[in-house]
Amino acid sequence: MRAVAAEIAALVRAHPQAVLGLASGDTPMGVYRELARLHREEALDFSGVHTFNLDEYSGIAVDDPRSFHSAMRTHLFDIVGLPPSRTHFPDEWATGDEFEQAIHSAGGIDYQLLGVGRNGHIGFNEPGSPMTSRTRHVALTEVTREDAARIFGGVDRVPTHAVTMGVATIREARRVRVLAFGPGKAGVVLRTRSAPVDPQWPASLLHGHPDVQLIVDQAAVDRP
Ligand code: F6R
Repeated sequence: MRAVAAEIAALVRAHPQAVLGLASGDTPMGVYRELARLHREEALDFSGVHTFNLDEYSGIAVDDPRSFHSAMRTHLFDIVGLPPSRTHFPDEWATGDEFEQAIHSAGGIDYQLLGVGRNGHIGFNEPGSPMTSRTRHVALTEVTREDAARIFGGVDRVPTHAVTMGVATIREARRVRVLAFGPGKAGVVLRTRSAPVDPQWPASLLHGHPDVQLIVDQAAVDRP
């Protein structure tokens, strides 16, 4: 996590107007903690940065503590002084095209952070998402909703839909870093490394990107 944060810090120092693509969920939180520390202790300056988050649940208020908006504000944006005018989410736009246009106008995503779901999803591109998919409204699978049940207090309370960047949108980022930490991700890591390119395992659609890395910890590669 430190190495990932260090890479982001180097990018932001070299290009103060860098465009970051960010993920929510548990996996990147250690990276955000480290970025917050670098801001506090080493004056890492985010004031010129634009961020674009991958996804958000549908039908959830931005200030609902279970929303990705809220998690990002609490764990990163408010700490490093990024105002809402510089942080963007795909559900804030009337259409996916407008979100894509905003990414384009900002200069394109320099650095995209991703986690991977139990079913291989990236963002909320669930199995079956085509390589050509763009920002859009999607239905969440049962597996994804089960994994979010803890946060929502039961699977029945998890939204059924979300808005997500598409696979093609993600693939346009100049650098892509996929994070998988902990023993719960061992199966995901194995399959992401070895799967042939197959929309049924969306993380495999990143193979062939010119600058993609899968970043894991020991627990995520230990065989059970
Ligand atoms: C979140 C996102 C999802 C998560 C994935 C893993 O913005 O896009 O694809 O990265 O579901 O979630 P965690 O990190 O909670 O295991």
